[in-house]
Amino acid sequence: MATIAIAADHAGVALKAELVAELAKLGQPTLDLGPSDTSSVDYPDYATKVTAAVTDKRASLGILICGTGTGMAITANKVHGIRAALSRSEFEARMAVQHNDANVLCLGARVTGGALAIEIMKAFLAASFEGGRHAKRVEKITQVEAQR
Ligand code: RB5
Repeated sequence: MATIAIAADHAGVALKAELVAELAKLGQPTLDLGPSDTSSVDYPDYATKVTAAVTDKRASLGILICGTGTGMAITANKVHGIRAALSRSEFEARMAVQHNDANVLCLGARVTGGALAIEIMKAFLAASFEGGRHAKRVEKITQVEAQR
């Protein structure tokens, strides 16, 4: 089973613990990149720990949690090869993988409760990229990155 990298900021650390426990129950290999307590930290520092794990293939997918999920998503999407999706529902998480080949899930711990976040995470992990017409569109994202 492929490894999932996960990190949070101080606002997301409690939800991260819930998700890590669920991943353990599922037998999912997990790379927990911190933090381990609620001391104030800056979300970009933790977003880049997970994006680095995905881009250097220590993990196949990543999960990032902050208060809203927005800061994590903005940061992660600056990294070449990362397609991060802020998801508030199972539907969004599933579609992000099926249509957008998302490789990082972002969650907002101040927006989404633990039980729903677990279902969103499971939907994200269970989904597969559909390819086909979506592959051409995802390739165009790469072209946009190259224009920077
Ligand atoms: C931290 O207070 C908060 O700004 C952060 O967790 C996140 O919501 C930023 O997008």
